[in-house]
Amino acid sequence: MDMNVSLNGLELKNPVMTASGTFGFGLEFAPYGDLEQLGGLVAKGISLKPREGNPMPRIAETPCGMLNAIGIQNPGVEDFVTKALPALKNRDVAVLANLYACDAEEFGELAAVLADEDGIAALEVNVSCPNVKEGGIAFGQDPAQITRVTEAVKKKAPGKHVMVKLSPNVTDIAVCAKAAAEGGADSLSLINTLSGMAVDVRKRAPRIANVIAGLSGPAIKPVALRCVYQAVQAVDIPVVGMGGIASAEDALEFILVGAHAVQVGTANFLRPDFAFGLAKEMESLLKSIGATSLEEFRGSLQLPL
Ligand SMILES: Cc1cc2nc3c(=O)[nH]c(=O)nc-3n(C[C@H](O)[C@H](O)[C@H](O)COP(=O)(O)O)c2cc1C
Repeated sequence: MDMNVSLNGLELKNPVMTASGTFGFGLEFAPYGDLEQLGGLVAKGISLKPREGNPMPRIAETPCGMLNAIGIQNPGVEDFVTKALPALKNRDVAVLANLYACDAEEFGELAAVLADEDGIAALEVNVSCPNVKEGGIAFGQDPAQITRVTEAVKKKAPGKHVMVKLSPNVTDIAVCAKAAAEGGADSLSLINTLSGMAVDVRKRAPRIANVIAGLSGPAIKPVALRCVYQAVQAVDIPVVGMGGIASAEDALEFILVGAHAVQVGTANFLRPDFAFGLAKEMESLLKSIGATSLEEFRGSLQLPL
């Protein structure tokens, strides 16, 4: 079965990507499988300048998931371009950079640095970060800011596919999806983590130093499916679904509600080889349930009359 996916100009050999922040810069996972078995890999979030991230502890286990408040620890875009990226060159896998910035101008500057990098197939724009210039409210919670950030990235990297990664921590995901499309996004990816926290009654203390953290893993899959379903209805650009995918069946659920492709996040921590075999597993499952192609299956959800 043909598992190729065309995401508005971004060609993937199969619909499986790995999610930002859960797969390093890619090479860290090379001991567990062949990176070329993936449709794409999204590198961990990068910013203009290096960031140390949040204080420890910054990870906690939860029922069927995990909380993290890493705080986009990264070596900065220059280091990414000179060290991580060359190591991935000549591999037949789409590499996506994941952008993190504190205002729209900074997003533009970051995009400009990456605009002419051949090794980058697309820019994924993380709008879940706080907008420092607008009092700290996350870009992703303000549709006007989503449009502005998307425009800024598109303007500075006109030749690059721009995928806007939406936050689920909003009242209406459809409004946010439309805002990104209006800004010129080529595709959307969702969901980022759900805002959450965990506390320790014995220590009377938060389990994560940052107090508030992001929930991911199987616990969030129903929320993610709902968000992807609503985003697909709202816009004409392709949508990449993620949130709690831990099996081929999970991945196909996202395709059934209309996603073109999927990303695997937290599952990489539990099973570092999981993402590599996922496309093949999806293909087998599609065949066994009588689907004729990935395209035919996509969005074929039968709603009750
Ligand atoms: C430890 C960790 C770090 C993450 N870092 C980033 C990041 O740098 N940029 C980003 O856009 N998303 C980041 N995410 C969010 C994931 O890419 C993904 O959107 C989310 O975890 C939901 O998918 P999952 O349930 O399969 O993990 C991170 C998630 C985790 C667990």
